[in-house]
Amino acid sequence: MKAIVYNGPHDVQVKEVPDPKIEYATDVLVKISSSNICGSDLHMYEGRTSLEAGRIIGHENLGEVIAVGKAVLRVKVGDKVCIPFNCSCGYCKNCERGYTSACLSMNPGKVGAGYGYADMGPYEGGQAEYLRVPYGDFNCLVLPDDAEEKENDYVMLADIWPTGYHAVELSGFQPGESIVIYGCGPVGLMAAYSAQLRGASRVMVIDRHPDRLALAERIGAIAIDDRNRDHVEQVLDFTEGEGADRGCECVGYQCHDPAGHEVPNGTMNDLVKSVRATGGLGVVGVFVPEDPGGADELARKGEIAFDFGAFWNKGLSMGTGQANVKAYNRQLCRLIQLDRAQPAFIVSHECSLEEAPEAYEHFDKRDDGWTKVVLKPGLSAGGKAAGKAGAGANTGAEDSKAEKSHAHAHAGGAK
Ligand SMILES: NC(=O)c1ccc[n+]([C@@H]2O[C@H](COP(=O)([O-])OP(=O)(O)OC[C@H]3O[C@@H](n4cnc5c(N)ncnc54)[C@H](O)[C@@H]3O)[C@@H](O)[C@H]2O)c1
Ligand SMILES: [Zn+2]
Ligand SMILES: [Zn+2]
Repeated sequence: MKAIVYNGPHDVQVKEVPDPKIEYATDVLVKISSSNICGSDLHMYEGRTSLEAGRIIGHENLGEVIAVGKAVLRVKVGDKVCIPFNCSCGYCKNCERGYTSACLSMNPGKVGAGYGYADMGPYEGGQAEYLRVPYGDFNCLVLPDDAEEKENDYVMLADIWPTGYHAVELSGFQPGESIVIYGCGPVGLMAAYSAQLRGASRVMVIDRHPDRLALAERIGAIAIDDRNRDHVEQVLDFTEGEGADRGCECVGYQCHDPAGHEVPNGTMNDLVKSVRATGGLGVVGVFVPEDPGGADELARKGEIAFDFGAFWNKGLSMGTGQANVKAYNRQLCRLIQLDRAQPAFIVSHECSLEEAPEAYEHFDKRDDGWTKVVLKPGLSAGGKAAGKAGAGANTGAEDSKAEKSHAHAHAGGAK
């Protein structure tokens, strides 16, 4: 089959690799129809993880079940499924309590496993034609009948919507509260969207990319461009000088100033400044135990100079970590099915696997208009989307609709 393989920093390629097989009776094999490029993939793409060359990337996966192992009883061939990025067992001490991001059995000696990701076990990624899903009955979310029609919405359930939702949840958010979100990438946008759906009185999102900030405004959030004026001051102005009730970190260890210089403690200390006393922080941006390419001595050891005194003095609380996708994906799926939510509003590009290397380059540079890429293995290169990827930005909403229906026709035809 064809798959996107990591070759080294800034180098991913489409390669012919062996097809995955049912290895255990509990496995499910999925023919992938959508697999997103994630901001998390960019940490690997930029060579800032220990990912080995030769690995297949891709952890935001959706597709059709084409084979099931003997012990799979619930999931059936032909089901459309969305697969959480956490690859979990369902029976360990953490999975039992719903903490599937901290599964103790799938990545022995470590906590938590995922598809196609550094340090998250041997499981291959889904930016490929096929994917093996261990413990298929536990891990697959079987999608409703409108799965094909709303595929770009449902594929957001694999990671970034539950992750954005998790950020809001970890912050201790209650309806009616205000919330500030650092980072207006896909995860920050999904945190803003979740806070809106949960009845926030005010949602403020900070970034410096106008295309991303425009999407935040489109869902009714206040966009704060930190190139113009001190962003903490702006948050204080919007909250009667108090600071927001809650704050989310949706950037991670490679956070930087608007000029691009990495400031590893930047967002965490900005959150302490912009959230009110006794408020809460939800940190889902990835921070790593060591970062050999880090900007300073502390960062290289996975540490930051955190304003703990101010944090303590304000009586702030904080929740951190990978999202437990299964804790949320079923409920969020219902919101899509019943037309209460359309998380695909962030999708800017649908690309074939052949176009993926180019798409990685654009998304990594946060080029204008490249807000979220969905790879469609069923889409052949040279279709309309090929031109689109080559042309770069996708700006108009109308454009994007036309693009989507075209790509759908392609994907449908390939099945
Ligand atoms: N915890 C989880 O389960 C989980 C899941 C998915 C992604 N993530 C992580 O979430 C983070 C965001 O992911 P994404 O897909 O949105 O990535 P992204 O890189 O596309 O978006 C990050 C955004 O943050 C902005 N930014 C950088 N520095 C900033 C600063 N100092 N202040 C404000 N904004 C700043 C960038 O301009 C960019 O738009 C990444 O670290 C990713 O690895 C975590
Ligand atoms: Zn992801
Ligand atoms: Zn487990």
